[in-house]
Amino acid sequence: MRDLLQQLENRGELRRVAKPVDPKHQLAAVTRAVQRAGGEAVLFESVTGSTMPVISNLFGDHGRLCRMIDTGDKTFCERWIALTEACITAPAGSFTRPATAAETAGLVSGTLSDLPAITWHARDGGPYFTSAIFLANDPDTGVANLSFHRSQQISDAELRVRLGSSHDLARYQARAEDKGEALEAALILSAPPEIFLAACASLPIEASELAMAAQIRGEPLAMRRCETIDLEVPASADIVVEGRFLPNIRRPEGPFGEFMGNYVEVGPNHVFEVTHVSYRKDAVFHGLLCGSPEDLRPLEAVTAARVYRAVSATVRGVIDVSCRPNVMITIVKIKKAYEGHAQHVFLAALASHLDYNKVVIVVDEDVDIYDMDDVMWAYLTRGRADTRAMILNDIPGFYRDPKKDHWGRLCIDATMPWGREAEFARKTIPGQDDIDLSDWLA
Ligand SMILES: Cc1cc2nc3c(=O)[nH]c(=O)nc-3n(C[C@H](O)[C@H](O)[C@H](O)COP(=O)(O)O)c2cc1C
Repeated sequence: MRDLLQQLENRGELRRVAKPVDPKHQLAAVTRAVQRAGGEAVLFESVTGSTMPVISNLFGDHGRLCRMIDTGDKTFCERWIALTEACITAPAGSFTRPATAAETAGLVSGTLSDLPAITWHARDGGPYFTSAIFLANDPDTGVANLSFHRSQQISDAELRVRLGSSHDLARYQARAEDKGEALEAALILSAPPEIFLAACASLPIEASELAMAAQIRGEPLAMRRCETIDLEVPASADIVVEGRFLPNIRRPEGPFGEFMGNYVEVGPNHVFEVTHVSYRKDAVFHGLLCGSPEDLRPLEAVTAARVYRAVSATVRGVIDVSCRPNVMITIVKIKKAYEGHAQHVFLAALASHLDYNKVVIVVDEDVDIYDMDDVMWAYLTRGRADTRAMILNDIPGFYRDPKKDHWGRLCIDATMPWGREAEFARKTIPGQDDIDLSDWLA
């Protein structure tokens, strides 16, 4: 975390807030204002009620995410897929090592009350850990999983946690619960980039997400044993909360302002019994504003890579995939090779991810898929509105959708009509990319 902050500072991508900030709404309001003004990370040096500084908006920029996985001349999708494939074949035991004494020095034991208690939105039910990465081992195979699950801070002894039913942690917990057992887990609240990004990944259930973190880092992860549970955690994590998900107990959690920009009301959710808290003396707490670029960009990037992998295994000519402005949409850039190429992409993209992909748009290779204005320009100018849009009725979507608000699919072919490319070629101005404005503006 400290290395990352230093790198951002050196690049001019870190803003500091020196004056005291109220963790109830004010910290979130300043974070949002910084995000609107630019994409920098923001470090709150003095947060009322805690001695720990808070960092936010670390992962809210696509270019920064590309640097974190060292994409070089590849797209995020291509590099992410290469990392994923390497980690699926990594032999057990090759991606972790015991931490040295120096790597675990400076750790202290404490309580949840030592940590910042941030209330993010007007109607939230209280303070929440939002950059909340749970590490747990599959109760049957021992394979490690990392995943995000926002956690409501109830007391020093208890968190309430929403486990999305399609995620691995929910499956682990259900299997432990079937046996009447608690599921032990460690909550990492301040993670370096490789852990954060590996937690975003959805790998096959037999693949370890610690292997993914090691692939991103380029070396085995140093691990330390927990104090009260039978788990090892990365020694690089600044703050670790140990505990167990209690079986057959659900208590009210919420409301909370979610990633789609609205509130999820109070619901019966999982109870995490806290058994130990440890942190570095100089820990920096990571707080993430849900639904903001820091929440959306990483989820979009890994979802796009998943779609890219599946679509390009079936259809040729896929160049890149993005999911902007959130994971409910997939935009696929192709080198169009035949009439109906976009329609083949629709089929493969829809099948690649049943939870999201509410809308799929296919564009030509000259369109900027990270700029919705350019994507809509292609749809609006390169052909008819009606025959290039296809509605598929009554297909279930997002898994948490009791009123069917996310059912149905819309597919848009925003490519040029086949055989008429010259008519629709984008106009250019000779020399437009070579102008240095300092030569021209007074
Ligand atoms: C920044 C971020 C925050 C997230 N927050 C939550 C959350 O609070 N609850 C949840 O169920 N899923 C949340 N998710 C989704 C999943 O936890 C996440 O995609 C995870 O990778 C699932 O991994 P799995 O498929 O290996 O279980 C979040 C994802 C990201 C990237």
